[in-house]
Amino acid sequence: MSKPLPADLSLRPIVAADLPAIFAWQADPEACRMAVSNPRDRPTFDQHWQRVLVDPTVRGRSIVVGDQLVGTVSCFERDGKAFVGYWIDRAWWGRGIASRALALLLAEEPRRPLFAMAARSNTASVHVLQRCGFVWLRDEWTEATERFPACTEAFFELR
Ligand SMILES: CC(C)(COP(=O)(O)OP(=O)(O)OC[C@H]1O[C@@H](n2cnc3c(N)ncnc32)[C@H](O)[C@@H]1OP(=O)(O)O)[C@@H](O)C(=O)NCCC(=O)NCCS
Repeated sequence: MSKPLPADLSLRPIVAADLPAIFAWQADPEACRMAVSNPRDRPTFDQHWQRVLVDPTVRGRSIVVGDQLVGTVSCFERDGKAFVGYWIDRAWWGRGIASRALALLLAEEPRRPLFAMAARSNTASVHVLQRCGFVWLRDEWTEATERFPACTEAFFELR
């Protein structure tokens, strides 16, 4: 890694004031290519986050270095299962931030098992999951949706 993991990295709840940065990150074309996802437009993004911020089943955390917002890491439910997800500001990639932030989330999140999905091509995300103890379950071809282009998706579980 070219730069070290910042020592003063911590998590705090996501608040409405974080949303403009989160919107910009999810619209970053390079990040979208990596995650194999399509950005939400602003109205769809706002509707989504209005729900998420008050959903008691979501543990949404902003990742901060000092008081600077650098990413998000969350636990949320889909079809009755708890999943984790994360997204880091591109300026901060490659410093161990996602791995550390996910480890911090796992320390405060009691739900198990936890599940995660990553595009098979998203090597960095697959490494993050494996570093945090997730085990590979299967690869599966998933058809395109409005949110995600078609791709081979890797499924993981933390027991
Ligand atoms: C994927 C992402 C979360 C990784 O964040 P990060 O803070 O850079 O990750 P880390 O620094 O903790 O690196 C994790 C591992 O990936 C590797 N890695 C980092 N960037 C990489 C890249 N561009 N290509 C390949 N491997 C990479 C690191 O070397 C590290 O490997 P190691 O465990 O063998 O040391 C970040 O790039 C991102 O937010 N991408 C866009 C959104 C996204 O893909 N979210 C996940 C959707 S499933």
